[in-house]
Amino acid sequence: MEKRLQLFPKSTKICAVSGVERLAIGGRDLTELAEEYGTPLYIYDQSALDAAVDEYRASLAAHYPGGGGITYAGKALMNLAAARWAAGRGLWVDCTGAGELYIAARAGVPRSQILVHGVNKSDADLQAALTTAGTIVVDNLWELARLAALADGVADFPNLWLRVRPGLAVETHAFRQTGQDDSKFGMGFAEMVEAVTLCQKQGLPLTGVHFHQGSHFHDPEPIGPALERVLDLLAELRDASGWRPAYLSPGGGWGVPYHEGDLPHPAIDDYVAFLAKKLAAGCEANDLPLPILHVEPGRSIVAVAGVAIYRVGAVKRTRNRRWLLLDGGMADNIRPSLYGAKYSALPVANPLRPVLDPAWLGGPYCESGDVLIENLPMADVQPGELLAIPVSGAYHLMMSSNYNGALRPAVVWLQGGQARLVQRRETVEDLVDRDL
Ligand code: LLP
Repeated sequence: MEKRLQLFPKSTKICAVSGVERLAIGGRDLTELAEEYGTPLYIYDQSALDAAVDEYRASLAAHYPGGGGITYAGKALMNLAAARWAAGRGLWVDCTGAGELYIAARAGVPRSQILVHGVNKSDADLQAALTTAGTIVVDNLWELARLAALADGVADFPNLWLRVRPGLAVETHAFRQTGQDDSKFGMGFAEMVEAVTLCQKQGLPLTGVHFHQGSHFHDPEPIGPALERVLDLLAELRDASGWRPAYLSPGGGWGVPYHEGDLPHPAIDDYVAFLAKKLAAGCEANDLPLPILHVEPGRSIVAVAGVAIYRVGAVKRTRNRRWLLLDGGMADNIRPSLYGAKYSALPVANPLRPVLDPAWLGGPYCESGDVLIENLPMADVQPGELLAIPVSGAYHLMMSSNYNGALRPAVVWLQGGQARLVQRRETVEDLVDRDL
């Protein structure tokens, strides 16, 4: 159980309240928060977000000339509070399409710090990008042609980066690989040559190159060959056209430990140091000037900061299983059903009490696949108790649904010992709000 505790934000403490040991995060008692805001509840500890950014910054400064920059991948968690926090920390914010661009702009993220991604940007996405973004990452030649047509007469046209598909992938779930030959993302090398030529012909502000190999990998090594291929391409492009990117972004994708079996986990510094050294050496070998290295992490910044709190309802014994049925499940966390993702959990009261036997943590939805955790050694938990699932900050709320009329959870932000409701729980009225 001690090891499980390490999965929670560093500010997590166990405090005795009237003879009961209770979990507290960011100086706030989880039992009180659950009572005040209801469950399922998502809490975000800003000190954990800040610590991850500090680690990226320190690592870039230590290993890369000029220190590089950080784009926060908003797809992992995007709301006004997250966007404001990111802008306040001087991060760029990666938005996918007009929806996330709207949130970033509403949060007041400066235009120069907004970057847009998208594999098939709609006209609305491109229009939003032209008015709110400082950088557009171009996925394909069709998009580039549309942008070229839109550029005519526009004074402050966003900078363009080209997304290349290196033709290699990292080790992760197949749904999270993006750099391999048959991936739908980015351009092949011949298309990249064509894209650079078109940008030069049209006088478009082409400033960077981007690739993203996949998400939630734990070993940086496989990024190496992809980076080498991209640098070979850049040398080729320089020879053919004279173009050199001012920025190079190897995307995001660094993984995090989700359950005790993932511990210990290599540090952010291992990943950044590998990238930085490989890029600096590769540029020297290819006689390329050093670009600004812009990393683009999502999960490794927000996952650990987020904790989901559920209340246990029915407890059942079936032939081989003990079921703890929770008030949330696949509607707020689709990751176990979609990727077979493994999680861990602790009771909020007396979290370190002895294990009874394995438990299956099921959700309330009409799907047999609605199981958040299988076969987890767990204490004798009773109906009405609270359970906390750590590492819930990334790709849960963003992939949430109203399945079975589920209401999206409330989100509470913890900072300096204060708890602030930053997103209210959905109501049943919200469920018919769009209906005519
Ligand atoms: N940059 C690009 C272009 C991306 O597509 C992504 C993630 C990131 C950066 C950030 O990757 P991260 O550092 O968060 O791994 N829903 C999946 C993850 C999908 C990732 C999509 N792209 C999951 O829950 O595991």
